[in-house]
Order: sequence, then structure tokens, then C-alpha cells
Amino acid sequence: MKVAIVGTGYVGLVSGTCLAEMGHNIMCIDNNEEKIKTLENGDIPIYEPGLKELVEKNRKEGRLSFSTSVKEGVKKCDVIFVAVHTPPLPDGSANLCYVEEVSREIAENMDDYRIIVSKSTVPVETGKWIKRTVDKYAKEGAEYDVASNPEFLREGKAIDDFLNPDRVVIGVESDRARQMMSELYAPLKDKTEILITNIESSELIKHASNSFLAMKISYINAVSNICEKTDADIEEVARGMGLDKRIGNKFLQAGVGFGGSCFPKDLSAFIKIAEKLGYDFSVLKEVQKINKNQRGLVIEKIRKSLWNLNNKNIGVLGLAFKADTDDMRNAPSIDIINQLVKEGASVKAYDPEAAENAKKILPGAITYCEDVYETVKDSDLLLILTDWKQIVEMDMKKVKELLAEPATIVDGRNVFEPEEMEKLGIKYTSIGR
Ligand SMILES: NC(=O)c1ccc[n+]([C@@H]2O[C@H](COP(=O)([O-])OP(=O)(O)OC[C@H]3O[C@@H](n4cnc5c(N)ncnc54)[C@H](O)[C@@H]3O)[C@@H](O)[C@H]2O)c1
Repeated sequence: MKVAIVGTGYVGLVSGTCLAEMGHNIMCIDNNEEKIKTLENGDIPIYEPGLKELVEKNRKEGRLSFSTSVKEGVKKCDVIFVAVHTPPLPDGSANLCYVEEVSREIAENMDDYRIIVSKSTVPVETGKWIKRTVDKYAKEGAEYDVASNPEFLREGKAIDDFLNPDRVVIGVESDRARQMMSELYAPLKDKTEILITNIESSELIKHASNSFLAMKISYINAVSNICEKTDADIEEVARGMGLDKRIGNKFLQAGVGFGGSCFPKDLSAFIKIAEKLGYDFSVLKEVQKINKNQRGLVIEKIRKSLWNLNNKNIGVLGLAFKADTDDMRNAPSIDIINQLVKEGASVKAYDPEAAENAKKILPGAITYCEDVYETVKDSDLLLILTDWKQIVEMDMKKVKELLAEPATIVDGRNVFEPEEMEKLGIKYTSIGR
């Protein structure tokens, strides 16, 4: 099938490339000319394992192209995905003006039947607004359907998530759209459930799923606070809980809390749309509060280890909101480092992929290091914020030797065993243990 994807960010580029890999003919469109130029030159504007190779392969085989023209995409393709960003407005609700802008542009350029599919994460009832927009700007009698197909990929594992998903969710309101969307995802039908719902349910499934996962993280973090006040160990507690199939062991890792471009924004957008619809989703407000507190807790642990932070050297390992991505949006490192700098600490930091993005967000006073050991050297305290392989696998004997005495680590991801750290003579503090 011929498919246009408007918005070639994390989701648009991965979805487009994977749909091409599934055999479709894909045009990825973006109004950021530099991004499209980069892609046409064979480079990838984001870090995502395996993506560069897959883009290259599908371009070579003639199934993937790039463009800055929505018009071209609408003229040539039957299915048009909207995969633009939906960032939070100051009040927490989703900013849908990019979705509206693209819907209008699609409408103005439609000559034949098209399906307009929202892949961006949007609040329930956005489909209705897209329809109103298209009705307003399309030529009279234009035939089209609106559909919803939320994306569940995780950055860092995006390709595998797209090609081997737990489920594909499609929201439609006509048989024609149902048929075309089923055909689009037919290559996946033997390995996963393709769930077809109405548009509102599909939109809601995305917000409800992300908020539930965020709730799981905050829940285990809340439990870790109880562990810290008793002799219980959160790793044992989480394992004991996770063995229950009804609970499952995923998203039960206590730590510095969630960040990234999705959970924080989707949670607040879900709270806001619920509020607009007349429901106070108070449990989700608590999830946000626990998550914020978790960052403060890490600062408190650092203060407890170092007393005053003024003039202390702190080495920070990991800046991205999680491993295997260069995404810094809403990373816990931002709030934590800002606070350290505010209290007078000197910060050295290392991240295998996110340093360039971090430089745009974090205060200029930070020194960026080339590897873990440069970061560790002479630091009064080592702070672990992301569980990158390079960090989890570092030589802890060497780390002990390089750190200023007494060797001190605050681990916001529970990547090491407290007993082993004690044996090495490291003053080690983690979460809930
Ligand atoms: N990043 C993720 O892991 C993830 C996962 C699932 C869902 N989502 C959702 O997918 C959507 C996109 O997220 P993202 O992370 O890919 O965002 P992004 O910011 O990386 O990409 C959005 C792209 O849209 C382009 N764009 C904006 N307006 C445009 C226009 N009028 N015409 C053409 N291009 C335009 C931007 O230039 C940008 O390249 C969001 O709603 C997000 O919540 C993201």
C-alpha cells in the first residue's frame, strides 16, 4: 500500500521505516527541511539502535522516500498518518495545534478517497475534531475516513516493538477503513492481535495504557519508601510481587522515577481530558506527585552523603531518561542536576548518546566527559541516573580507586548489589534497599 507519514520524528521515522520493511511503499514527510536533508543524505537525526541500517535497506529497495511536501504525500498515497508531536500546554493538556494544522493541509489536498490516521498520542475525541477540520477544509463531496492507530513503541527498542508488538490497536468508523487498515497490518496478523475498536476506544487505550504503566512505576517507588523505613528490600519485594502473573514483573523497578517524552505528558493530558469530561482522576495526580518526590529523594540522599553540596565534585553517569536513547525530554537528570548546580556543586557528566541533547537543556557549567572513568575520577560522589550498559558493566575496582575518598555512590537505578559495594569499600546508597 502507498502510505504517507506526516511528522518524521521518533515515531514517524520508525513507523515509516518498519511499514516499509513490512512491504509497503512509504513517504516520510516533515516540514523540518534540515531533518529531511539529513535523511536524504543517509544520516539519521536520532539515536535508535538498528534504525540507520533499516532506513538504508528500505531506501535501497525503493520502498522508503522522504519529502517536505504534505501535498505530494496526499496526492500519491492512500493512507496518511499524522505522527506530529503533541506536547503539553502550560496547563498540562495536549497541544493539538500541529495535529490540526496537518489535518487541514491533508484536507486541502485530497482529490480521491483517503484515510487520515492519527498515530500521534491524542486525547479521546480528537478524531472528532480531526473530522470537523477535514470537513471544513476539504473540497465538497470529498471522500475520506478518519482512523486512530496509537503507537506503543519504546525508544531504544522501537524497531522490535513495531515489528513484534504486543498488539496493534486500530480505531475505525467504517468498513472501508477497517478493511484498508487491516490490510496495512496484515503482515503482523500471525504474530500479534490486531484489535479493532471504535476511534474513541482506540484513543483512550493509549492514554490509559501509558498512565497505567506510569502508575506501576510510582507504585513501586512508593513501596520503596516504605522499604527504606524498614528492613525490607525493594528488590526482593518487587520480585515477590512480580512473580504473581496478575501483577507481572515489568515496570516494577524502583528508582529515580519516570521521564521521557511520553509518560509525563500523557499522564497530564489524561488528567486534563478527564477533568474536561467531568471526572477527577485523582489517582493519576498522586502518580505525578510520587514521581516528582522521587527526584527530590535522590537529592536528599546526596546531601546525606556529602553534607553541603557547595564546592563538592559530583560525577553523573547517565543523562538520557532511560538507556539506549538520546532523548532528554523530561529526563530526571534535568531536575536533579539543576538542583545540584543551584546548591553549588561542580558537575561532570557522561552519557553515551545524550550529551549533545543535554548541552541544549542543562546549565552551561557542566563538564561533559568522554567515558565513565573520566567522570568518576576525583568525584566526591558518583551519581547513577541511567542504566546504560557502559555504566552497569564498569570495573568497580577501578571506580573505587578513581573516586575521591571516601568512595561514595548514590545509585538512582539500583544497578549494583549493596553487599558487593560494601566489600569493595564503597559507601553505596540506592533506592529502597
Ligand atoms: N517518542 C515516543 O517514544 C513515542 C511513543 C509512542 C507515541 N508517541 C507519540 O507520537 C507523537 C510523535 O512523537 P515523536 O516523539 O515522534 O515527536 P517528534 O517531536 O520527535 O516528531 C514530530 C515531528 O513532526 C514534525 N512536524 C510538526 N509539525 C509538522 C507539520 N505541520 N508538517 C510536517 N511535519 C511536522 C516535526 O518537525 C517533528 O519532526 C506524539 O504524539 C507522541 O506522544 C511517541
